[in-house]
Amino acid sequence: MFNIRSLVLSLVASLACLSFSTADNVTYDSNALIINGERRIIFSGSIHYPRSTDAMWPDLIQKAKDGGLDAIETYIFWDRHEPQRRKYDFSGNLDFIKFFQLIQDAGLYVVMRIGPYVCAEWNYGGFPVWLHNMPGIQLRTDNQIYKNEMQTFTTKIVNMCKAANLFASQGGPIIIAQIENEYGNVMTPYGDAGKAYINWCAQMAESLNIGVPWIMCQQSDAPQPMINTCNGFYCDNFTPNNPKSPKMFTENWVGWFKKWGDKDPHRTAEDVAFSVAKFFQFGGVLNNYYMYHGGTNFGRTSGGPFITTSYDYDAPLDEYGNLNQPKWGHLRQLHASIKLGEKILTSSTRSDRNISSSVTLTTFSNPTTGGRFCFLSNTDASNDATIDLQTDGKYFVPAWSVTILDGCNKEVYNTAKVNTQTSVFVKEQNEKENAQLSWVWAPEPMRDTLQGIGKFKANLLLEQKATTVDFSDYLWYMTNVETDQTSSLYNITLHVNTKGHVLHAFVNKRYVGSQWATNGQSFVLEKPISLKSGTNTITLLSATVGLKNYDAFYDTVPTGIDGGPVYLIGSGNATTDLSSNLWSYKVGLNGEMKRLYNPTFSSRGKWRTFDQASIGRRMTWYKTSFKTPSGVDPVVLDLQGMGKGQAWVNGQSIGRFWPSFIAGNDSCSETCDYRGAYNPSKCVENCGNPSQRWYHIPRSFLSSDTNTLILFEEIGGNPEQVSVQTVTIQTICGHANEGSTLELSCQGGHIISEIQFASYGNPGGKCGSFTQGLWNVSNSILLVERACIGMESCSIDVSAKSFGIGDATNLSARLAVQALCSND
Ligand code: GAL
Repeated sequence: MFNIRSLVLSLVASLACLSFSTADNVTYDSNALIINGERRIIFSGSIHYPRSTDAMWPDLIQKAKDGGLDAIETYIFWDRHEPQRRKYDFSGNLDFIKFFQLIQDAGLYVVMRIGPYVCAEWNYGGFPVWLHNMPGIQLRTDNQIYKNEMQTFTTKIVNMCKAANLFASQGGPIIIAQIENEYGNVMTPYGDAGKAYINWCAQMAESLNIGVPWIMCQQSDAPQPMINTCNGFYCDNFTPNNPKSPKMFTENWVGWFKKWGDKDPHRTAEDVAFSVAKFFQFGGVLNNYYMYHGGTNFGRTSGGPFITTSYDYDAPLDEYGNLNQPKWGHLRQLHASIKLGEKILTSSTRSDRNISSSVTLTTFSNPTTGGRFCFLSNTDASNDATIDLQTDGKYFVPAWSVTILDGCNKEVYNTAKVNTQTSVFVKEQNEKENAQLSWVWAPEPMRDTLQGIGKFKANLLLEQKATTVDFSDYLWYMTNVETDQTSSLYNITLHVNTKGHVLHAFVNKRYVGSQWATNGQSFVLEKPISLKSGTNTITLLSATVGLKNYDAFYDTVPTGIDGGPVYLIGSGNATTDLSSNLWSYKVGLNGEMKRLYNPTFSSRGKWRTFDQASIGRRMTWYKTSFKTPSGVDPVVLDLQGMGKGQAWVNGQSIGRFWPSFIAGNDSCSETCDYRGAYNPSKCVENCGNPSQRWYHIPRSFLSSDTNTLILFEEIGGNPEQVSVQTVTIQTICGHANEGSTLELSCQGGHIISEIQFASYGNPGGKCGSFTQGLWNVSNSILLVERACIGMESCSIDVSAKSFGIGDATNLSARLAVQALCSND
């Protein structure tokens, strides 16, 4: 029956929402975000709070601010905050309220992407695995059980922010909030239920009355007033689905993530800058770098399968929080250059003139003030262009670059002309006490599981994550097989079909082999075995390495042996199917349950003296102590020589390790051409080396003196090669063109101790191999030494005048410098 009362009530409610979300201090139109009446373009960067430590936050935020950002973006990580249903954790580096307050204290804004599905190469896309086990639940679709959970969590987060006055509408830093994440990319297979779900997400979000705009990324059908936004390497062609919405680039991927076995991704500073400049050239309002600081997947937080512990991402701040130069500095200059035009860009009409098929001049002009601001882009991937703009000047625009013209007649920036230093970091072991770590070891207690003794039984092969609820990476599957005198006992193949990710097999307490697929997916383990007459015990240990985080229905993708089948194949292919045997199960390792990783409890382990026979043992715990390296440089653990496992410092997990997983030997090349569209296999580095050799130990995990390091080694390694090191800036290089300023800096309290190369003239080469050109001012080194030696940073005016050769304005001179940084 038509109910007029409820219609009126809901109309009143939605009008209330409407006025709330538009009347407060963050509004927008197609040209600008309008914050407290000011028309703004916004540079933002992703820093995910649990991927660093709370002790690192102030420095990261300050470096983001110094890099010219206006805002910091983060997801909210549901699985970490609600590890068990209705039991919450907001402590330590999960204290996002403190993170937001620090951002506000620094004078920056927050873009809060609640999700709560986040993707993010994060375990299970940020969903707590207990969700998966709720009867009748279906995730990310029109399912009441799921929607209740999502709404409860989202509401809790919003209420926490409201209680701390964190929304801009309350005077706080949050200017934008996001609901869901890239649902549009995977929506089709969910059919009508998907459409109903996304509409519900919008209504649910709106009903929370946060007083700032909501966004949905990669959602071209986002219902109003949700603003749909773009993610990718380039978003200049993107148009929001409402002409009144601002054009926002929520994820400008500055590099890429890495999986075990991958090479190191590298996206050049020139190409990131090109993407950003083109975005603003064609009407962009907000650009967010994904990631600005990638950080570390501590513990078992990495997604999967097979995402590495490092989430460096080739971001402007590296995994440890150091400036990744020249990327950080080149983008900083870009921000400053675009900001010169902020007033004009946000209040003008735009006109594009195609000068050629690849060169476009875009002019923003404000009819009231007469102000102009221009972008001149050359999208040709190989041909440079020289463009004559008549009275506005003549410009050399390299291939695949954008020139920014203040007033449309003064070049202030070109995305391909890098005037920022390159910094080279080295990893060093300096403490003499740490030169030779002394180890003890303890075997993982496996008496029970090797005998087939578990905690519960079932007549089938269970799916792993539903069984472990991701309490551990490990699940034991054990069964007994009876053989009589007539059975053949030799030349038998144990055949196990598994959905992954890693499998170890034992028969009658003896190890028979291990296997995994290089991409972390389904595979078959086949190992020759012998049986004995009577009862035989088959023990299979399945390990997950990060739960899948992306795709339609990704949450239902099985892990572990899940249905198998598991066969014994004898002579003549006689096959015994063990899949519906009685299987015994145990979740996790005994060492994990005993907390052998924690110094407080590690005495529960049977630690033994280390000798040559302690090397290469699978399923083994290793323990040592080390001294905290002096100084403030970031600390890393070099795990070269180890196989696969997890590492803890003073009881805190620094993540999974797998240095024996070597990156392929192909497709790394000495040179990297920034020109042409980027993809993650372009410009890769580190071929033929461990995909991750070093593991970050945040300084806040360390005591003032001695620390306990504990490793669990699953497949065999040599701890004698392990070492504790610091990441120290060593060489800095810079080059700058006539008329500009060369700035050099050894960050973190280091000083410039030697100028190894300096040439004002036309030097060639690159950092590490600079050469003098045909002409060179002979006392270049001396002049640079005078300005820089003993300083943490210095700046040099690159001009003929300051190099003592008069007013040589016709010379297209450059200055190249290579310097050494040291502690004192
Ligand atoms: C996007 C996603 C992010 C992250 C990124 C790749 O699709 O929204 O969370 O996963 O891809 O790093």
